Amino acid sequence: MTVKTDEEFIAEIARLRAERGAVILAHNYQRPEIQDIADFTGDSLGLSRQAAATEADVIIFCGVHFMAETAYILSPDKVVVLPEIEAGCMMADMITVDGLLELKAAHPGVPVVCYVNSSAAVKAESDICCTSANAVAVANAIDADEIIMIPDRNLGYWVAQQTGKKVIPWDGFCPTHEYITVEQVEAARKRFPDAVVMVHPECRPEVTAIADAVLSTSQMFGLAATSDATDFIVGTELGIGHGLAKANPAKCFHFPTDETICPNMKVITLAKVAESLATLQPRVTVDEETRLRALAAVQRMVELG
Ligand code: 13P
Ligand code: SF4
Repeated sequence: MTVKTDEEFIAEIARLRAERGAVILAHNYQRPEIQDIADFTGDSLGLSRQAAATEADVIIFCGVHFMAETAYILSPDKVVVLPEIEAGCMMADMITVDGLLELKAAHPGVPVVCYVNSSAAVKAESDICCTSANAVAVANAIDADEIIMIPDRNLGYWVAQQTGKKVIPWDGFCPTHEYITVEQVEAARKRFPDAVVMVHPECRPEVTAIADAVLSTSQMFGLAATSDATDFIVGTELGIGHGLAKANPAKCFHFPTDETICPNMKVITLAKVAESLATLQPRVTVDEETRLRALAAVQRMVELG
């Protein structure tokens, strides 16, 4: 069997994309070659907006399962394909519906803010979703001093600090972001004393505490583009380095450690994208009852603007 080259896969993807009327969405952590063939790259919020707005019949979602699920929740009339169905999110897997129901029962009447990194079934039991880009705005928009925030304890801590609200967290976390330590950030700062330190809110509280900015992945693109700084220390998954360097060729992006790799974000390859365009498999769907309940939580977030 002859193995196709990247160029051959790229040509095949272009042909099949046109034939299928498909749009390819890619998260900022995807492999460089996947980011390069995507119609849109972005963070969770940007990609869910693209999924809701696109007129394409087919969405090829190069990201992890909860992201494709959110696209389906918003656009059930479209075919939503996740080129590698095993691409999950370690944090999303840390909470179950039963666990959330227990937490809700222990705090009756307290609104539940659900980070979009969660299953449709967990979203269905929540009042409103948020992403890293709008978590503080969502919490501020809720008319209550106390909120439950699931599943990321670090995002919950960050939101509590920024809003002054009492946050009851779930004890979940992202192993990739927890890997980043204060010592690593300080060491990078020593090497690049003029650099702007921007980190993701999934980082440990002691890391967000020493950062210059705490941002979603797309917000990091915004700061990189508008800041006068030429060096940046980036506290998030390494895949973002490709897009940041491409968009800002005169600037330098440094990572506190080269270990921040989300394995689930790397399993989608050009071969898998080509295959999924040819077969329109594997598809992501959600049963209609769960979808409608999850949609209410996602829509409340999307409507916040
Ligand atoms: P963003 O929405 O900031 O891209 O984050 C998604 C994510 O999974 C971070 O680990
Ligand atoms: Fe989930 Fe962490 Fe990977 Fe983001 S980086 S998809 S939170 S495991």
